[in-house]
Amino acid sequence: MDLKTTPVEKSRISEVDFESLDFGRIFSDHMFEMVWDKGSWGEPQIKPYGPISFAPALNVLHYGQAVFEGMKAYYVNKETINLFRPEDHHKRLNQSCWRMCMPETDYEIFIAGLEKLLQLDTEWVPRKKGRALYVRPLMFASEEYIAARESGRYHFYIMTCPVAAYYNEGFNPVTLTTPDKFVRAVKGGTGEVKTAGNYAASFRPAREAREKGFTQVLWLDAIENRYVEEVGTMNIFFLIGDTLVTPQLSGSVLNGITRRSVIEIAKKENLAVESRRITIDEVLEAGKKGQLREVFGSGTAAVISPVRLIHHAGQKIDIGDGNIGPLAKKMFDTITGIQYGELDDPFNWTRPVKITNKSKISQTE
Ligand code: COI
Repeated sequence: MDLKTTPVEKSRISEVDFESLDFGRIFSDHMFEMVWDKGSWGEPQIKPYGPISFAPALNVLHYGQAVFEGMKAYYVNKETINLFRPEDHHKRLNQSCWRMCMPETDYEIFIAGLEKLLQLDTEWVPRKKGRALYVRPLMFASEEYIAARESGRYHFYIMTCPVAAYYNEGFNPVTLTTPDKFVRAVKGGTGEVKTAGNYAASFRPAREAREKGFTQVLWLDAIENRYVEEVGTMNIFFLIGDTLVTPQLSGSVLNGITRRSVIEIAKKENLAVESRRITIDEVLEAGKKGQLREVFGSGTAAVISPVRLIHHAGQKIDIGDGNIGPLAKKMFDTITGIQYGELDDPFNWTRPVKITNKSKISQTE
């Protein structure tokens, strides 16, 4: 597909310190843009990343009709950049659009835009393992109209940014606490899709968790306040005895793509894996009996994030010896090994993008 392209006059890359990348703060030279108006999508285009101008009546600012995705591209070698499960991310983006009453996009256009961005911004893909080019597709209601109803216009962007680890802890274990007065989502709500408001609503509980000295919130279900759902920006796994348990997709849990990858790897390794309801009491009990061998989160931004401590209602459970557990390490090594093209990809998760302009690659390896 031939996309209308306006390249930057001068790249900003020389201003970037790839040795100290703050997650989500630095953006590559180009972005993809497509506008839906009067019932259909207009011509997609690639243009320089930069400000867009709207009046304060912009619908999304008032009612939050916005969806996004988070995916990553990985440097393999001078010829190849790997996208990880782009089709799954695009499918979930369309599911989010459906729930938020927004127009869906075609995969062909999405992937063509993404590949073109990677060709243009090859140099922005970090070379070092542990770093990647984070890809953020975003759609929002862009009609300048403040009635509370679905918008008549939408803007869709794909922007990319070179990133390192999401948490300050890197791959080191984090700590979690259940919130004492907040809930995240209910079945039938929007908890299972990636819409902006889900995250805005989590900032107050996340701040309170941080003020108490914990890294993130461990969400419980909103009805009985007993069933574990997910963590602020990740899904969650418990290794209890020899079984890997993760909360089932109850309608209020995000259908994480890294979560899916962990389950598929576990099954391939013949590890017993259960996606089911699990109460916080069961987790604490398993901890007290010494059966809670490991806990880790999974997510695109976080990859695999080991958990060393869970706090709930005045009780604290230390997990394992406080270090990264062997299963979390195995999952991390397998997923990142596939992503960076170091391991075979028996699941067919990666989409290699062949780089045609080799002169672009100048960062040192
Ligand atoms: C991701 O893991 O990519 C996410 O979208 C989480 C985000 C809030 C950083």
